Amino acid sequence: MTVNVMFSAPPRLWPVYKPLLENYLDEMGIDVDLKTGFSPDVVDYVVYAPSGLRDFTPFTRLKAVLSLWAGVESIADNTTLTVPLARMVDHGLTQGMTEWVVGHVLRYHLGIDAHIHGLKGEWRQDVPPLASERAVTILGLGALGQAAAVALAALGFRVTGWSRSARDVPGVTCLHGGDGLKTALNSAEIVVLLLPSTPATENTLNAETLALLPRGARIINPGRGPLIDDTALLAALDSGHVGHATLDVFRTEPLPASHPYWTHPNVTVTPHIASETRPVTAAKVICENIRRGEAGEPFLHLVDRGLGY
Ligand SMILES: NC(=O)c1ccc[n+]([C@@H]2O[C@H](COP(=O)([O-])OP(=O)(O)OC[C@H]3O[C@@H](n4cnc5c(N)ncnc54)[C@H](OP(=O)(O)O)[C@@H]3O)[C@@H](O)[C@H]2O)c1
Repeated sequence: MTVNVMFSAPPRLWPVYKPLLENYLDEMGIDVDLKTGFSPDVVDYVVYAPSGLRDFTPFTRLKAVLSLWAGVESIADNTTLTVPLARMVDHGLTQGMTEWVVGHVLRYHLGIDAHIHGLKGEWRQDVPPLASERAVTILGLGALGQAAAVALAALGFRVTGWSRSARDVPGVTCLHGGDGLKTALNSAEIVVLLLPSTPATENTLNAETLALLPRGARIINPGRGPLIDDTALLAALDSGHVGHATLDVFRTEPLPASHPYWTHPNVTVTPHIASETRPVTAAKVICENIRRGEAGEPFLHLVDRGLGY
């Protein structure tokens, strides 16, 4: 029987994903009708990225929604969705994030800015410490946080990770819960946020938790904007308590032209480019979940709708 798959994502993605999805599903021997529009009552799967679809009520035959994005905050709380929601865990996305995080950690660790901006004729030989003398904390030990933590630990950094439940990552000191966060921030010279945006993670870094950091700590946020209380971070940057922040994600995107982050001397803004789902690998993940759905097997990467990630 033909499986009806509706692609509901920004239109620019359709010509990229259509041949990949068709090809992989054909290889799996799944007879599929893949389109951007169907009568909702005949759709079996929705391949989803935020683009306007909000009401799933008319999708009476739907078996699952398969997200192209890792972050699902725009759909996890949608009460019209009553079937499984799977998020994206994609090798290309993970690799891209690891490279971005390692690059920005090394920028801080090696003090690269001092030489890019120039020593102004002063022969100042500040040799950077070794990675083994640098404490990096990663908030979030999921698919992305774990990969970044392992890569940094392999370079020799003293890596601490923090998650909601207990985790075990080789070479990484793993902490969880409220007291775990305090310990994780207390000694962190560099903090990387790779948490999802949920009601429980909003303002994880706020005036109180920022105060736990040693003076001059640096912050790297490729997670989501709402993880940080912006007012508290700006105050901590102004006072010098936080030495610098590299921010890839924001509460409002694109970041408004008038936002103080754009002009703050101790903030680097990157425009939500830390990583992205790579179609060649991500299409395989989507097709594997369709295969599983048709075979009656459990879906990969299911979202816990109660937790929101
Ligand atoms: N900037 C970009 O380009 C970009 C690209 C892709 C993704 N992202 C962001 O990166 C986020 C993380 O992705 P992922 O694939 O690593 O997610 P994930 O696999 O779901 O991992 C999330 C991690 O956060 C932890 N966590 C969740 N709620 C928590 C809480 N209340 N307290 C403490 N820890 C909590 C989880 O703890 P447990 O381990 O106990 O479950 C888990 O370790 C995404 O949600 C998205 O927002 C950004």
